[in-house]
Amino acid sequence: MNYSKRLWVTLLVICLFSFGVLLWLGGEIYQQAPPIPERVVTTDGATVYTGKQIQDGQQAWFAAGGQQLGSVWGHGSYVAPDWSADWLHREALALRDIIAQEKFHGAFDALPAEQQVVAGELMKQEMRRNTWDAERNVIVITPQRAQAIRQLSAHYEGLFSDAPAFHQLRVDYAMKENTLSSAADRADLSAFFFWSAWAATTDRPGDNITYTSNWPHEPLVGNTPSASLGIWSIASVILLLAGIGALVWYHMRDEEETVKTSPQTDPLFNVRLTPSMRATTKYFYVVIALFLVQILLGSLTAHYAVEGQDFFGIPLSRILPYTVLRSWHTQLSVLWIATAWLATGLYIAPLISGHEPRFQRAGVNILFVALLVLVVGSLAFGWMSTMGYFDAEQNFYIGSQGLEFTNMGRMWQWLLFAGLIIWLLLVGRALWPAISRPSENRGLITLMFLAAVCIGLFYASSLMWGYRAHYAIIEYWRWWLVHLWVEGFFEVFATAVIALIFCRLGLIRPAVADKATLFSTIIFLFGGILGTLHHLYFTGAPISVIAWGAIFSALEVVPLSIVGIEAAHNYRLLNKAPWIQRYRWMIVFFVSVAFWNMVGAGLLGFAINPPISLYYVQGLNLTAAHGHAALFGVYGLLGIGLMLFCLRGLMEDHVWIDGLLKWAFWLMNIGLAWMVFVTLVPVGIYQAWASVDKGLWFARSAEVVHSSVVETLVWLRVPGDIIFGVGGLLLAVFALRLLVKVKRR
Ligand code: HEM
Ligand SMILES: [Fe+2]
Repeated sequence: MNYSKRLWVTLLVICLFSFGVLLWLGGEIYQQAPPIPERVVTTDGATVYTGKQIQDGQQAWFAAGGQQLGSVWGHGSYVAPDWSADWLHREALALRDIIAQEKFHGAFDALPAEQQVVAGELMKQEMRRNTWDAERNVIVITPQRAQAIRQLSAHYEGLFSDAPAFHQLRVDYAMKENTLSSAADRADLSAFFFWSAWAATTDRPGDNITYTSNWPHEPLVGNTPSASLGIWSIASVILLLAGIGALVWYHMRDEEETVKTSPQTDPLFNVRLTPSMRATTKYFYVVIALFLVQILLGSLTAHYAVEGQDFFGIPLSRILPYTVLRSWHTQLSVLWIATAWLATGLYIAPLISGHEPRFQRAGVNILFVALLVLVVGSLAFGWMSTMGYFDAEQNFYIGSQGLEFTNMGRMWQWLLFAGLIIWLLLVGRALWPAISRPSENRGLITLMFLAAVCIGLFYASSLMWGYRAHYAIIEYWRWWLVHLWVEGFFEVFATAVIALIFCRLGLIRPAVADKATLFSTIIFLFGGILGTLHHLYFTGAPISVIAWGAIFSALEVVPLSIVGIEAAHNYRLLNKAPWIQRYRWMIVFFVSVAFWNMVGAGLLGFAINPPISLYYVQGLNLTAAHGHAALFGVYGLLGIGLMLFCLRGLMEDHVWIDGLLKWAFWLMNIGLAWMVFVTLVPVGIYQAWASVDKGLWFARSAEVVHSSVVETLVWLRVPGDIIFGVGGLLLAVFALRLLVKVKRR
């Protein structure tokens, strides 16, 4: 078997193995997820909550914004609390006080130390003991605990209403008045919060670790890291070092990828633009428009972290509450980046094959209309959903699901899926001659197309959960989509597209690039597929997930830690011939993609990745720091780089003046670095300290989130946001100027 064939076989084996394990662990999650009981009853027979209330409560939380409004089990947004940790802490305090009163006839704080120890220990035992009766499917609790639960219910029901006593807390949490307007919904909500905290403190049957593997950190109830967390964390660091060593070794014996002599003129200079290629131009203008809107929404969202309900005194939250802005902000990030990529695929396919299939232009235009309908429709219906126009079921199907990155209602998800399939067909039919005919680039083209197929088909994983699915199951499938996209197929697509562009420009040797890209793909997917599990450490999955996740996700970082080699290679290409300056900014954007891959994805990703680290920081701003640096730094900048490549081909030479691009490039990169390193990372570290010291509830409490340290740091991001925003605007001005010049001619 030749080398290339061996690589393809290896890739196949790795995919089969990894998806086998991922599906098997998924099966375990289905079986071992924390049970939703039929009823929660007291030892003297009173019903506290019903199972239906718990499920309705989950729906009520989703309706109130769900993961855009605080988090449950660490997944969601960061201004409001993590409700599971918040409930858990409050319940522990309330129960401890009730026990203190009953046993020692005094408030807990007033008791002598020995009695405090006794009351604390009794509370802990009660909270940790698993009293789920599997046969009757009921959870049995003491009347004292039921009393504590009643106190807490009153707190959350007040918070989610417009009761004046809770106004300040709502402002602190960036919640609008009457977040849930129906009293029944508010009562159900507390059932769900109770259940999410119950799963986080109750030992799994026959074990001494909770359903969420002792997450969140809460010393009061003995939620501290288990031994395996430390062990697998150490193992993951060692494995990462070993992996880097091996990869550097491999690279040392690498063949030189770049060509000895590059072409004298631009091989793509006189390329024939087909009608469908021309039709992609409008996509890029939509990309820029969505990007600008996203920046605007992002700075408004960040502002709510300080003012809660207002925008410099204007009561903005009445029409555009935090939850809406944040969901639009995250949804738009995915939509504009996706649009840039889709358009690049459509532009590049006929370029590579030299073949324009019949009706290709019509297809490109139809897809464009579908895309506009999707963007406007899903955002508008999402808004209506949050403003309370729909019931719970309508929210799920047509409004918003209350989930981060998979927020749009199911109908819109189906439309997006259909759009992706149409895109695949359009790209596939244009590429087909190049895939079926033997050529030096055939492997690379096939790989790019396979990555596109996976991007399209794997979107289906976000259609896997139903209305009223178990939260642990929703998280399992949600991360199939988000993680496998960004840490799997996107990486492959990106590597292949960049290599293909450089091959077409005659700057790198196809045969070598082919194998190198295939090799990278193997490395990415070897860590990336099972790396999905790093999102599921603490979401009701069995503890074995931690071992698998820690090991494989550490391997994801191996290729990212030496991506600087690739960046240096790419940068050197600029000096190969004078004509390459035509592509200067595309190449410089690709170099910055490598930089952020190393820093944003690799470094900041690994900072939170070892289980012991994530145990303390899941749901803190360190995750946000990583999310921004990786999502915009890698895929946003790549989207812009690809757009520049396409526009370069679409626009004639004399309209192309790229002075503004230099400014756009630097301002966006400096703005991003500012946002990440001046605000998000320091806030994240400050919160991490609070989390290790006192518990996650504290790191996410108003006391920390609105401390003067954090508020100052949030204000400090404003200059960075402005710098970033100006960068985005300059990109828009650059692109608009192209249009104006073309029109004038
Ligand atoms: C370019 C590639 C990547 C992108 C675009 C990306 C993006 C994201 C995003 C958007 C989030 C969620 C942030 C939030 O909930 O606010 C996230 C979380 C996370 N990422 Fe990445 N990431 C990338 C690579 C990596 C790598 C290489 C690692 C380390 C192996 C990593 C580890 C994590 C971890 C541990 C979390 C938090 C887990 C959780 O709370 O579920 N990521 N990432
Ligand atoms: Fe991930």
